[in-house]
Amino acid sequence: MKVLVTGGAGFIGSHTVVELHNAGFEPIIIDNFSNSKHSAVEGIEKIIGQPVKYFEIDCNDAEALRQFFKNEKIDGVIHFAASKAVGESVENPLKYYENNIGSTVLLLKIMREFGVNNFVFSSSCTVYGQPDKLPVTEQTPRQPAASPYGNTKQICEDIISDCVTANYGLKAIALRYFNPIGAHPTANIGELPIGIPSNLVPYLTQAAAGLRSKLTVFGDDYNTPDGTCIRDFIHVVDLAKAHVKALQKLEKASANYYDFFNVGTGHGATVLELINTFEAVSGVKLNYELGPRRAGDIEQIFAQVDKVNNEMGWKAELDLADGLRDAWRWQQKLAPHPPKGAF
Ligand code: WQD
Repeated sequence: MKVLVTGGAGFIGSHTVVELHNAGFEPIIIDNFSNSKHSAVEGIEKIIGQPVKYFEIDCNDAEALRQFFKNEKIDGVIHFAASKAVGESVENPLKYYENNIGSTVLLLKIMREFGVNNFVFSSSCTVYGQPDKLPVTEQTPRQPAASPYGNTKQICEDIISDCVTANYGLKAIALRYFNPIGAHPTANIGELPIGIPSNLVPYLTQAAAGLRSKLTVFGDDYNTPDGTCIRDFIHVVDLAKAHVKALQKLEKASANYYDFFNVGTGHGATVLELINTFEAVSGVKLNYELGPRRAGDIEQIFAQVDKVNNEMGWKAELDLADGLRDAWRWQQKLAPHPPKGAF
């Protein structure tokens, strides 16, 4: 099965390309490299031991996309390519609506023209907002998005659902990610934040590597055991494997099928617990301070994962320590002078 992976040079995309290869699929990457590097493609090739086909194409470039589908007989698509910085989406909503929604609409249109019916969509737990009850199930109602980024995920889910209802013949699965962390254990691929990371783990590992003076914990007055936010941190390799399972489910599904699944570990961890776990696995004492809350943060969220376990036969195999150990190994690969005490 030849699978187009849009954004396949990105953090989750690159790890998914590796797992697709391992499962016997033929992944092909398109990426506009606006938020990823060619070194990620080289890293994938080092891991799988063979070249991987990739094309520098923007998913909003209709002509280039059509030419690609003409040249390559694609059997399925995994759509990662999107802008994903929550804060930036508040400052520049049009960029997010044009890119995230525009690319999804265009892809679905062109897939229909070429009779490609298998579609896996990269969604996010952000569609739930701050749930009233935890853990979050797929029956948990979506809440009005807290950011244009989150809104684009909700809108794209609705677009896909409407296409299925219209009997286009589409078979689609949306995966609602919780908090992806970590890197490939070979340290050949990992998270490559461009600029100052907004996400916790890349900022933390850069602070541990001495590239940032300290980590600020955004808020310690939440209604949680230690006052810091709770998240469901899922290892990116586990998350990548969930995409393979989703494609395998679509291969067997009948036409006009749509469903969505929470993809998390099913466990919540606080920010301070994550910091303590990092110090334990790395042997590095992290320089951090407790600071004010970050606007827009929800207090706590973690997944109930029965549906993806039962219906896709997937469950997380790696834990928080594995994710932080791999994230640190990757950071050390990037920053060759780790502080003393690194393992
Ligand atoms: C996690 C926790 C922060 C940085 C977002 C998107 C989600 C997905 C993942 C794309 C929060 C705290 C963070 C720091 C901190 N994105 N934190 N100091 O906000 O849960 O989720 O990224 O798919 O859709 O919503 O992730 O890593 O930014 O924050 O204390 O320097 O870490 O307050 O509690 P978040 P995050």
